[in-house]
Amino acid sequence: MQKKIKINNKKLKTSILIKKNFISKFVKNIAKKNEKVFCIVDSKIRINLNINNQKNIIVISLRCGEKIKTFDGYKNLAEKIILKDVNRKSAVIAIGGGTLGDLVGFVASTTLRGLDFYLIPTTLLSQVDSSIGGKNGINTIFGKNLLGTFYQPKEVLIDISILKSLPKKEIRSGYAEIIKHALIKDYKFFCWLEENSNKLLNLNKSILEQAIYQSIIIKLYYVIKDEREFLSNNNSRAMLNFGHTIGHAIEKYYDYQKFNHGEAISIGMITEAKISNHLGLLSSKELEKIIIHFKKCRLKIYDEVLNDRRLIKILTKDKKNFHNNINFSLIDKIGSSIFYKKLEKKQVYKILKNIK
Ligand SMILES: NC(=O)c1ccc[n+]([C@@H]2O[C@H](COP(=O)([O-])OP(=O)(O)OC[C@H]3O[C@@H](n4cnc5c(N)ncnc54)[C@H](O)[C@@H]3O)[C@@H](O)[C@H]2O)c1
Ligand SMILES: [Zn+2]
Repeated sequence: MQKKIKINNKKLKTSILIKKNFISKFVKNIAKKNEKVFCIVDSKIRINLNINNQKNIIVISLRCGEKIKTFDGYKNLAEKIILKDVNRKSAVIAIGGGTLGDLVGFVASTTLRGLDFYLIPTTLLSQVDSSIGGKNGINTIFGKNLLGTFYQPKEVLIDISILKSLPKKEIRSGYAEIIKHALIKDYKFFCWLEENSNKLLNLNKSILEQAIYQSIIIKLYYVIKDEREFLSNNNSRAMLNFGHTIGHAIEKYYDYQKFNHGEAISIGMITEAKISNHLGLLSSKELEKIIIHFKKCRLKIYDEVLNDRRLIKILTKDKKNFHNNINFSLIDKIGSSIFYKKLEKKQVYKILKNIK
């Protein structure tokens, strides 16, 4: 399968190409169009870019993970690029997972007030989620992604052949974002995933590409309607935060050590589904259906941190939450989500204490 999705409206211009075994060619094509190209590559990726004779491509390899999304990570990379005589005719290509993409996007958007930026996501999570929509950023001691910009890549290349080396744990992490997209917007897709999750988790090519494509379409639905998250209705980009209010707080609680992003938001989605059930929104039958699917796919559903008051403290520091209220994007059915529910800090603590 080869597919190209082009978005070319007044506010948003970008394109997404889904094509196998194409990374090296893609990089060379960009090098032909730019004076200098900075390829920032995750050091775990096994790939031969075949660029020996191309002097205008500079490769910078980074050891990735949440720890690079910091002030230091930003400074080191920006300074490396500046030292190598970046100019306005330079382009930046990020070849890596979501952490690399988020950092490089932020560096590209701020260096010389914005360089042309291309993304080649190499984890399932980054192919279905973080490479789409133009959000980037780094973390601060106060929480995740608190510094960043909206900056659309010129083009995104999704090449599933790069996923072969990805550990199973990371495949499941990406699957968590796929299932999130189904839960907030597409009941039929959820049923299709119930049927096909085994094949998908075993990297069946055709199933994988279909799931990635459908995930991207759902994410784009919100990005096109509400790129900067201004809307306050069910079309708001905030709907994509389902599972993330709790998920981000869990990541922060454990200082990004115990769980990867997908694991934390899996616990987040189940917990927020339980909150929704507790509020009388999501039926017990549908909640059970979701839990069964998560268990079948060995996605995490619980952690003891949910009973710790310190989690509530972290939740109130989230950039979406003010005045002791905590905002949740919840689902009221499989395939249907509702805009922020404001819950009081005390109420959240009480609910969390009562759910197992
Ligand atoms: N910008 C957005 O809209 C958005 C959306 C969702 C998530 N995110 C962010 O994305 C990040 C998570 O991304 P991630 O899950 O890709 O994490 P990651 O970048 O840390 O990658 C996970 C691990 O896989 C390794 N890796 C990457 N590609 C590989 C490959 N092909 N083979 C073998 N190993 C490989 C990495 O080195 C790392 O150890 C989080 O920081 C999250 O906040 C951003
Ligand atoms: Zn996420």
